[in-house]
Amino acid sequence: MMIPPLYKTTLIAGLGLAIAGCSGPAGKDETMEQTGSTAIMANDVHSFARPDEAVIKHLALDLDVDFDNKTLSGTVTLDIETAPGTNRLWLDTRDLSIEKITLDGGKETTFQLGDAVEFLGQPLEVAIGDSTKQVAIQYRTSPGAAALQWLEPAQTHGGRHPFLFTQSQAILARTWIPLQDSPGIKFTYDAEIRCPAELMALMSAENDTALHADGVYRFRMPQPVPSYLMALAVGNLEYHAYSDTCGVYAEPGLLEASRHEFADLPAMITSAESLYGPYLWGRYDLLVLPPSFPFGGMENPRLTFATPTIIAGDRSLVALVAHELAHSWSGNLVTNSTWNDFWLNEGFTVYFEGRIMEQIYGKEYADMLTVLGMNELRGTVEELGADNPDTRLYLDLEGRDPDEGVTDIAYEKGRFFLLTIERAVGREKWDAFLSGYFSKFEFGTMTTKRFLGYLDSELLSNDTSLRESINVDAWVYGTGLPDNFPTVSSTALDQAAAAAQAFRGGAGPEAIDTTGWTTHHWLHFLRSLGDSLDPAGMEKLDRAYRLTASGNSEIQCDWFKHCIRNGYSPADTRIREFLMHVGRRKFLKPIYSAMAQTDEGKQKALAIYRDARPGYHAVSTHTLDEILGYQP
Ligand code: BES
Ligand code: ZN
Repeated sequence: MMIPPLYKTTLIAGLGLAIAGCSGPAGKDETMEQTGSTAIMANDVHSFARPDEAVIKHLALDLDVDFDNKTLSGTVTLDIETAPGTNRLWLDTRDLSIEKITLDGGKETTFQLGDAVEFLGQPLEVAIGDSTKQVAIQYRTSPGAAALQWLEPAQTHGGRHPFLFTQSQAILARTWIPLQDSPGIKFTYDAEIRCPAELMALMSAENDTALHADGVYRFRMPQPVPSYLMALAVGNLEYHAYSDTCGVYAEPGLLEASRHEFADLPAMITSAESLYGPYLWGRYDLLVLPPSFPFGGMENPRLTFATPTIIAGDRSLVALVAHELAHSWSGNLVTNSTWNDFWLNEGFTVYFEGRIMEQIYGKEYADMLTVLGMNELRGTVEELGADNPDTRLYLDLEGRDPDEGVTDIAYEKGRFFLLTIERAVGREKWDAFLSGYFSKFEFGTMTTKRFLGYLDSELLSNDTSLRESINVDAWVYGTGLPDNFPTVSSTALDQAAAAAQAFRGGAGPEAIDTTGWTTHHWLHFLRSLGDSLDPAGMEKLDRAYRLTASGNSEIQCDWFKHCIRNGYSPADTRIREFLMHVGRRKFLKPIYSAMAQTDEGKQKALAIYRDARPGYHAVSTHTLDEILGYQP
C-alpha cells in the first residue's frame, strides 16, 4: 500500500529559495513576479523532497563504475540552499546503500532511511543545520537498481565489451543517486566517472568525444536540469561529427550506419531553432544504445539516447530524433512541474516534432505521421474507455507509478490540443506565442494551470468566446476526445488504406500499386487490413511483400501482430529472434500481448520470455511481468 506524503508544504512564503520554475539563470523570476514574494510550488506526490526546507542547487558526482559487481560507488556532494530554522534535508532513494554523510567538507552527520513506499523507495532524512552549505553522501547502488542496465558483451553490437546505461525518467534517478527526484527541482552538476580504460563514459553534460587512456572522465553541466535528465552511459563507443555542434556516438560497428541514418540532424537543429528560438544547450549529440534500451529515445540534455531499432537504412524512422531534439525546448527548457503535468512535456514535443518534420520533409510527409498518430490515439482512447480519468491531459497519478501516465493521451491528445489552438488563432500568432513561452520560462518549470493562465492572458487575450471555441477545459480536464477534435487527413495514407481494402476484397498483389511506398504507407496498409486474415491471405501478403523478412522494426512489429493473431507460423522464428534481441517496450508490449490472447499463445510467449527476460531493462520487465502474469 502506498502512503501519500501528506506532510509536504506547498507554499513557500518569502523564503527567497530559488526553486526551479521561480527563477532561471538569466534572472527571470516569473513566479515571484506573478505572486509577489510568495512562490507556489506544485506538490509532487512522487517525491519525498521538501524543497521549501532545503533545496539542491548543484550536484557533484564522484563514482567508480564496477562491471564485475554491477555497482556504482562513490560520493555525491550536494550544494544546498536552506530556509531559516531548517534542520533536515529530505532526499529520495531507492535500493541505495548509504554509507556515510558529512557536512561542509568534514563533520559526519546522522541520517535515517524511512520506510519503503511502493514505486517511491525510501526517504533519506539527513540532519543538517540551517547554515549548512554542502552535504556529501558516500553510497553505492545495488545490482538491481532500476535505472541501470548492465549489459553483457553478448548484448552489444560488437560482442566484446560490456555496456552500462542509465534511464532516470520518470523517478528512477533515485536508484543511482540520492537526490531530490522531482522534475520541479533543477540544479547544475559536474561529475568524475572512473571506468575500465577500454571504455568511454558519456553523460548528459559537456562530453569529450575521445577515449581517455586512464578511464577517468570529467563532466560539467552548467545549465540547471531536473534529476530525470541525469544520464550516464559507458561502453565501447566512437564519435562521428556532423558539424562543430552535433554528431553521433555509436559502437564502432554501428557508427557508419548511424552516421548515414541521422545525416539530417544538422538540418533538424536549424529547423527547430527557426521555429522556436535558439538551442541553449551548446552541443547536441546522439548516442545509439544497444537494442535492450527500453525506449525509442530519451532526451538527455546535450546527449539524446536512442534505440538502434530506428536505424532502418532508409531514414524513415528519424521523426524520433526530431522528437528528442524538440524536447531541448519542451521539457528540458520548460519542464513539467510534476508527472501529472506530463502532457506539457510530451504533447508539446509531439507537436514541435511534427513541425520540424513538416519543414524538412514537406507537409505531405508530416501529414502521414499526424494521421498515424491520430489513429493510435483513437485506439488508445477505445482501449482505456472514453470516460477513463486517464484520458485527461491533466492526470492524477497519486499513489501510482508515473509510468502509468505514459500513454498516447499525453503525447497525441496533447499534440492535437495544441493543433486545435494553432488552427483557432492562426500559425503566425501561435508560433510567436510559443517562442515567447519558451524564452519566458526557459530553465524553469510549468504546471498545467500556469500554462493555461499564460495562454489565456498572452494568446487568447482573455477572449472567452475564443477560449470556448477551443474548448480548453474539455481538452485538459475532460475525458475522451472533445467534439472539436481537429480533422487531419493524408491522401497518401488514403491510398494505402484503399489498397488494404482491395486486398481484403480479393485483389491480388499485382493489382495493388505500392511503388514509392514509405514505411508509413506500409504501416497504414497493415493497420487497415483488419484483425483476421485467412492463412492463404497471410501467405500471399508475405510472398508478395516479404514482410517476415523485413528489417524495419516498426513494420516487423505490425506484421508480427497479424502473424500471431492469424496463427501464421512461418514467422515464428523471426518473432522469437526479434523478442530475444530487442528490448524496446513499445514493441514488446503489443507482441507479447497479442501472444497472450490464447492459452497456447501465452505458453509460447512465456517460453520465449523466460529466455529473453534477463536481457530486458527493468522498465520493460515491469510492464511485461504483469501482462504475462510472470512471477520473477
Ligand atoms: N521522454 C520520453 C521517454 C520517457 C517518457 C521515458 C516517460 C520515461 C518516462 C521520450 O522523449 C519519448 O517520448 N520517447 C518515445 C519516442 C517518441 C518518438 C514518441 C519512445 O521512447 O517511444
Ligand atoms: Zn518525448
